[in-house]
Amino acid sequence: MSKSVFIKTYGCQMNVYDSQRIGDVLAADGYTAVDGPDGADLVVLNTCHIREKAAEKVYSEVGRLKALKDARHAEGRTMIIAIAGCVGQAEGPEMMRRAPAIDLVLGPQTYHRLPALLARVEAAHAEGKPGRVLDTDFPADDKFDHLPGEATAPGPSAFLTVQEGCDKFCTFCVVPYTRGAEMSRPVAAVLAEAGRLAGLGAREITLLGQNVNAYHGARADGGSADLGELIHRVAEIDGIERIRYTTSHPRDMTASLIAAHRDVPQLMPYLHLPVQAGSDRILKAMNRSHGADDYRRIVDDLRAARPDIALSGDFIVGFPGETEADFEATLALVRDVTYAQAYSFKYSPRPGTPASVLADQVDEAEKSRRLAALQALLDSQQQAFNDATVGRRFDVLIERPGRRPGQILGRSPYNQAVHVTLDDQTMSSYHALIGTVFPVTIEAGGPNSLSGRIAAPQWTAA
Ligand code: SAH
Ligand code: SF4
Ligand code: F3S
Repeated sequence: MSKSVFIKTYGCQMNVYDSQRIGDVLAADGYTAVDGPDGADLVVLNTCHIREKAAEKVYSEVGRLKALKDARHAEGRTMIIAIAGCVGQAEGPEMMRRAPAIDLVLGPQTYHRLPALLARVEAAHAEGKPGRVLDTDFPADDKFDHLPGEATAPGPSAFLTVQEGCDKFCTFCVVPYTRGAEMSRPVAAVLAEAGRLAGLGAREITLLGQNVNAYHGARADGGSADLGELIHRVAEIDGIERIRYTTSHPRDMTASLIAAHRDVPQLMPYLHLPVQAGSDRILKAMNRSHGADDYRRIVDDLRAARPDIALSGDFIVGFPGETEADFEATLALVRDVTYAQAYSFKYSPRPGTPASVLADQVDEAEKSRRLAALQALLDSQQQAFNDATVGRRFDVLIERPGRRPGQILGRSPYNQAVHVTLDDQTMSSYHALIGTVFPVTIEAGGPNSLSGRIAAPQWTAA
């Protein structure tokens, strides 16, 4: 009998990609995916450790799952609770101690072994033993070589991990510890996967890596390709109409990659380029290996290559020792650069990271005040960007039906969600539009999305 699995994903796009691959591994092992934990034989929480709240959410979820698990046990059935991802990697043994309901803990580099790990848990359960298993190795074998093919169609927009891990060791960040050292997948493996995704209907591919622009994948001729070259190669694949990549580090924003923004029409005019702070003193303490003006220069070069490029960033306020003047420097950088979108966070001390033991931690109320001020500025820039799109005509990649009747949802080249209102006749056959790129006239810009109508009177429902 087929078993069922519910996979819940926390954290970044790389975890979303990993959850899809975990789904593939389990599909090949006879599991059917379900969309809730109720009644599932296996629940996988694919976790994130980046900030304190992210990890706490996992423990609360385990608490809720324990009730379901106990109820199933009372009926003589089992539910295996598995923790995957970055909390598993960072706190595996502690999780096992703190939450006895957890059966299995694995890390981001061992999920190809899930069938064998689950078999160990099940064998122990069959003997009436607890059978708790932990596998957070950084194995020498590459998990990508052991993953089965894609079990389900990715939809019009697909993620593809090309690079993993991080060697940068920013002093606030857990990623180098949870994901391990930087590695790049070979060019041929990436192109083969991109080709399969295109064959399954993907029109947009987002190349992923914790430091995606540090990509240096082996080429068949023995050389290595950087991300700019990889983007050129992916653009040659039939069916791929759009390419994006994330997340990039300013230090690896090379001339070749910047030139790709000028030369590859499929590369979308949008870039998420985290800077974290605008004060050189703080950037140094963060071990970012770039100053604020280096970042400004990169932005100038990007805009020279692709004048309409929309920028997004990540910011941390209240890093230890951040003064009011340092914070003002972040606001000044934001004013100079002008973002279309951004993410900003209060500094969260993470166990085992150098910054967490620095003496001059900023107090919580001050962090909150700075975050509110920064977010007000970023929100106003985002609203201004969105307002300026009104009346313009964009190519929108249609992804799925919208939340409101009569609407479908797509994405602009600049990465905004676009709610597209259709007339009744077109709506009745909206399926034909999913996965196509369509011209849309933007009629309104909200804080987080745009809305408009199809700007193609010649299009009639087939
Ligand atoms: N590799 C990417 C980002 C990885 S983490 C990069 O180098 O930019 C995503 C974002 O989470 C980071 O850009 C940072 O802004 C935020 N972040 C990471 N650690 C944090 C911490 N300890 N406290 C608050 N925010 C953090
Ligand atoms: Fe974390 Fe810095 Fe690596 Fe990004 S570059 S993943 S912020 S250590
Ligand atoms: Fe979180 Fe791990 Fe991604 S810590 S942000 S899931 S790399």
